[in-house]
Amino acid sequence: MRLAAFGGIYSNHLALAAVLEDLRQGGSDLAWCLGDLGGFGPHPDRAVAALRSSGIPTLRGNMDDSVGHARGDCDCGYTDPRDNAFAQRSYDYTLAHTSPEHRAWMRDLPECHRLEAGGRRVLLCHGSPRRVNEFLWESACSDAFLEWMCAEHGADLLLCSHTGLHWHRALPSGRHVVNVGTIGRPANDGRTEVWYARVELEDGVRVDFRSVAYDHESLAREMESEALPPEFVETIRTGWWTTCLENLPAKERRAGRF
Ligand SMILES: [Fe+2]
Repeated sequence: MRLAAFGGIYSNHLALAAVLEDLRQGGSDLAWCLGDLGGFGPHPDRAVAALRSSGIPTLRGNMDDSVGHARGDCDCGYTDPRDNAFAQRSYDYTLAHTSPEHRAWMRDLPECHRLEAGGRRVLLCHGSPRRVNEFLWESACSDAFLEWMCAEHGADLLLCSHTGLHWHRALPSGRHVVNVGTIGRPANDGRTEVWYARVELEDGVRVDFRSVAYDHESLAREMESEALPPEFVETIRTGWWTTCLENLPAKERRAGRF
């Protein structure tokens, strides 16, 4: 059983197209999208239409819940005023440019999904199994905490997204936790590629992260045409986050440029 999972499309329809092509060539048995379809990027309907056409099952992230229900903000979980101001600009643009039909579809998406594979109980969620916008940062999650979360929610393999930074932890009990990353913006590593995860479940669990290149310059120009914040465009062109940094733990913050 080879399972692929990606999250955080953030309206990056060009990265999504590249990831869908990579999935076609990669031979996974099953692929899931862990939610957050809009935000950050341009023309949100383009990515949603492509995702729906692909038939890939999808979870409802915090952004999808907010856009679907036209809530007041994205419920991203930021606390810093500057981060929240950027998140609000991004959310307002996305809500205004997402069709009612796509919004109705988002409202009906599941928040979590369970499946059995390779004799393991697999749980897919957006932020964490207990909260859609919980940030599971690698440096902030002890083995004991992750063991507790997996036990509490009956998971041998837990897949999540939401933070934008991918990581994998093999726990002492044999359980695994994988943050699959996001394909909508780079991983604050100075590279323009985006990341998703593949998990092979047979005689154990093997995880590898795929980096996917796409036409990021075209996306940057589309963002400029839509008058999206120059800070967002800079991230697409450089691979460094310029916003929504204040909730990063110290270790992840030090790895970035700002
Ligand atoms: Fe999210």
